[in-house]
Amino acid sequence: MNTPKRYTITAALPYTNGPVHIGHLAGVYVPADIYARYQRLQGKDVLLICGSDEHGVPITIKAKKEGITPQQVVDKYHEMIKTSFSEFGISFDNYSRTSAKIHHDTASEFFKKLYDDDKFIEETNKQLYDAEANQFLADRFVIGTCPKCGYEESYGDQCENCGTSHNATDLINPKSAITGNTPTLKETKHWFLPLDKYQDWLRSWIVEGHANDWKPNVLGQVKSWLDDGLRPRAVTRDLDWGIPVPVEGGEGKVLYVWFDAPIGYISSTKEWAERTGNNWEPYWKDENTKLLHFIGKDNIVFHCIIFPSMLKAEGSYILPENVPANEFLNLEGNKLSTSKNWAVWLHEYLEDFPDKQDVLRYVLTANAPETKDNDFTWKDFQARNNNELVAIFGNFINRVVVLTQKYYNGLVPAPGQLSEQDEDTLMLLKKYPQIISKSIERYRFREAQTELMNLARLGNKYLADEEPWKVIKQDEERVKTIMFVALQIATGLSILSEPFLPFTSTKLKNILNVSSVKSNVDSPWNDVSKNDTLLKPGHQIGKAELLFTKVEDSEIQKQLDKLTASKKANEISNQSVEPQKETISFDDFTKLDIRIGTILEATKVPKTKKLLQLKVDVGIDVRTIVSGIAESFNPDAIIGQKVSVLTNLAPRTIRGVESQGMILMCDTPDGKLAFVEPDSNVKNGERVS
Ligand code: MF3
Ligand code: ZN
Repeated sequence: MNTPKRYTITAALPYTNGPVHIGHLAGVYVPADIYARYQRLQGKDVLLICGSDEHGVPITIKAKKEGITPQQVVDKYHEMIKTSFSEFGISFDNYSRTSAKIHHDTASEFFKKLYDDDKFIEETNKQLYDAEANQFLADRFVIGTCPKCGYEESYGDQCENCGTSHNATDLINPKSAITGNTPTLKETKHWFLPLDKYQDWLRSWIVEGHANDWKPNVLGQVKSWLDDGLRPRAVTRDLDWGIPVPVEGGEGKVLYVWFDAPIGYISSTKEWAERTGNNWEPYWKDENTKLLHFIGKDNIVFHCIIFPSMLKAEGSYILPENVPANEFLNLEGNKLSTSKNWAVWLHEYLEDFPDKQDVLRYVLTANAPETKDNDFTWKDFQARNNNELVAIFGNFINRVVVLTQKYYNGLVPAPGQLSEQDEDTLMLLKKYPQIISKSIERYRFREAQTELMNLARLGNKYLADEEPWKVIKQDEERVKTIMFVALQIATGLSILSEPFLPFTSTKLKNILNVSSVKSNVDSPWNDVSKNDTLLKPGHQIGKAELLFTKVEDSEIQKQLDKLTASKKANEISNQSVEPQKETISFDDFTKLDIRIGTILEATKVPKTKKLLQLKVDVGIDVRTIVSGIAESFNPDAIIGQKVSVLTNLAPRTIRGVESQGMILMCDTPDGKLAFVEPDSNVKNGERVS
């Protein structure tokens, strides 16, 4: 293939139903960023595009759970996610969101174009329905057995176990995720994309056309679906959160989230173009543009089958040149899980390691799940930081800068006659851009980063062999040559490390005072191969500054303790969800008179462990209540506490004190009790109903 000038690089739009963790970074965003930064250094025209995926069932479910609106959910997490990405140096040219008007417009137009061109099948048929919840069940609203692999918790649109995408009605033994009920069938109209019509074209484009350049894990999945045979897929849903279906008969329906989200790449590009005064079209329509999708393995079907079929149906777009999907990252041997809080959250990591963004990037790339699932462990994190970044890269740079300052006040010395060892070392340095490029171009980022470290090793070894700190005593002239060579390697590292360790690269360029030096050849990357002197004699460098610092055992222990706490909390919450009690009538419920009150006094009941004697203002009166909460609360700490009180419970004498009601409590994961308390503005005597 001829080398393209322009790159449109997309990174999967994250669902906006929670913060981002190391799995996201390792699988999608760090590799996409390495690739984009590398191509920019090559002098290519690069757009790195992303945004928040704000539609879809996971967001509605989260909103229900938290008692807020879907818009509130996405507003909260959009900001958080965007901030995390920028804090880790992910160099998006644009980060949009699918609730933006430009996206609604773009996705609507796209749908309408396919509709007008007769690319859909319009069909009324029976879909799964939950009569109790009054809702059609698609996607994550329904769980059942996967017809392909037999996994019992497959979602309606995709099985998380085997990655297959299917129709909700294909599930065996489906259950509503809302009520647990077995769904009934109800007629409704939808628009279907006839994937079967694209089957042959997909096979020749991917299986035949990309057999040698796409990753085996991606090709394998694609082949297996094609062998099973593709069928029409509904691209609309009976939901109220999403982009309204813009055609007649579409009232009350929205676009399927996986129809609108990938169009988000296009609308984010348009947003960039508007903001910067550019034209978006070449990035999506010019054959000389290389389109790449960075994703995790659960997204393969959508990026290799469904979205390309949509683009093909539309007709005016280019297709992806490659879809370098990664496998999954685990954490300390277990699957990362948002709901189980088994994760390293990016915002929390930065609280504990505020200047170690590059360290995390480095460790995640070193363990990138490129060909199989991989594991992140805190011990490995510490070892890679201390034994590689500090001991090799940092140590080399520090020696070079300190000695240059000490011997020459920071002025790069002029070399004398080069020894064979010097020549070899400089020649090797010149080879590194090609070596690293080769791996990056094949999406082998771990290998590429290992080669970068090999260059730092080369520098370290060169200094150890030449021992300028000893030679200085006998041969000052020779030391000038040694330091000159070492400084060239340091400069090479400052350039070649940029895709992987962008913060370190900037810091190092500042130390070497090369931030403003312009490339002599076509690109900074190629400078390292083509320029004989990256740092000229007489150039003034700055003062030494540590690039990396050690991670202590205690810091690692703190992280491990956090994970242990998550595990314990999960075990407790798993055990303590009791089954629902038997059904009662509404009349039974209204017999209970529950009021809001405030605790006015609290004293321990003598000779008991558990009991407190309380005076509580319940609005009707102030009464005495004996409550078994002494193991969870100090009497002094609960004066003024708002509580919910069952007021019409028959009085009971406990340890000689008449108790005139009951305080409502619930259990916490750590085995204590918590009050059931209202908002602070609710008055005493208000009824809970
Ligand atoms: N939100 C999806 C996920 O997190 C990814 C969407 S990628 C896009 O799995 F192509 F739809 F944008
Ligand atoms: Zn499956």
